[in-house]
Amino acid sequence: SKRIFSGIQPTHHLHLGNYLGAVRNWVKLQADFECIFCVVDLHALTVPQDPAALLKATREVAATYIAAGIDPEKNILFNQSAVPTHATLGWLLGCLTPLGWLNRMTQFKEKAGKQRDNAGLGLYSYPVLMAADILLYHATHVPVGEDQKQHLELARDIAGAFNRQFGEEFFPLPEPQIFGAATRVMSLRDGSKKMSKSDESDYSRLNVTDDADTIALKIKKAKTDIHPMPESVEGLDGRPEAANLLNIYAALSDKPLAEVIGAYAGKEFSVFKRDLSDLTVAVMGPMSERLNQLMADPAELDRILARGAERAQEIATPVLNKTYDLMGLLRPK
Ligand code: TYM
Repeated sequence: SKRIFSGIQPTHHLHLGNYLGAVRNWVKLQADFECIFCVVDLHALTVPQDPAALLKATREVAATYIAAGIDPEKNILFNQSAVPTHATLGWLLGCLTPLGWLNRMTQFKEKAGKQRDNAGLGLYSYPVLMAADILLYHATHVPVGEDQKQHLELARDIAGAFNRQFGEEFFPLPEPQIFGAATRVMSLRDGSKKMSKSDESDYSRLNVTDDADTIALKIKKAKTDIHPMPESVEGLDGRPEAANLLNIYAALSDKPLAEVIGAYAGKEFSVFKRDLSDLTVAVMGPMSERLNQLMADPAELDRILARGAERAQEIATPVLNKTYDLMGLLRPK
C-alpha cells in the first residue's frame, strides 16, 4: 500500500514554486492515498528564526495547505515539533550516516556559503532529519519539487543502510514524486535562479499572500528578453525567463506547454503577461482569501494541528519502538 509524506518549512510566506512544485500535487494525491502533510518547524530552525515569526509562519503554512484544498480530516496535518519522535529517529539515523554522504549535499553548500565553520550542525544534518520524517511513517512516496531530489536519494540510502544492518526491508525505500509542468519554478528576476523564500527581492517570487495588484505588478516587471513569444518548445532554448513564465502558465492552466506556446506564438510578451496575471489571480486569489479567513482563527488552526499530531504520533510510536528493538535499545515495556 502507498503512504505519502511531504513537508514545507515555515520560514516565509509560501510562494508559487511551493504551490506548483508541491502543494498543488498533494491536493491531487489526497483523493487516492493516505497522506501525511507536515509543517517542518524543526527544519526551519537550521537557520536563525525570530520566535514570534516562526510561530506565525507555522500556522500560516498549515493554513495555506488547507486553503489550497488539503482536507485536514481526511489527511494528517501537523507540525513536526509536536511529534518528538522525528528528532529521536533523526539521531538514530544520524549514527548510520557517513559524513561523505552529507558532504555531497548541494543545498548545504549553497546555504552555508563560504563561511562553512559558522553554519550550524543542524543545517549540516538537515537531510538526516528529513529522512527521519519520511521513514518514521514508512512512507512510500514523497511528492516534492525538483530541488529535493538529492535529499530523497539520501533518504533512500539511509533506509538501505539501516535495512542492511538491522533488518531486511524494515524501512521501505521512499520514491520521489516530481510531477507537473512546474517542478522547478524560477525567479521572476533571474531565470537561472530558482524561486525561493530566501531571495532578498520580493519581486523574484509570487507569494500565496499577494493581492491581485501585487501579482499583476510583479508579473509586469518580470524579466523577459527582447524577442517576441517563441513559436515552439525548441524556441525556448537559451530563453530561461520565457520558459519559466510559459511553464507557470501551463501548470496553472493544466494545459500542455506546447499548446500554450501555440496560443501565443509570435505575440508580444505584454499580451501574454496580462493573461498570465489574470490566470494567476484566478487561481491564487480565492486561496489567499481563504488563507486570511483561516489565519483569523488561530485557535482553530491549533486544534487542527494538535489533532493531526496525535494521529501522526499513533503511527510513529510503533515504528520507533520497533527501531529501538532492532537496534538493541532497552525500552521499558
Ligand atoms: P522547502 O520548504 O524548501 O520547499 C517546500 C516544497 O516546495 C518545493 N519547492 C519548489 N518547487 C518548484 N519550484 C521552486 N522554485 C520550489 N521551491 C521549493 C520543494 O521542492 C518542496 O517540495 N527539505 C524540504 C522540507 C522537508 C521535507 C521533508 C519534504 C523536510 N522534511 C520530508 C518532504 C519530505 C524543504 O526544505 O522544502
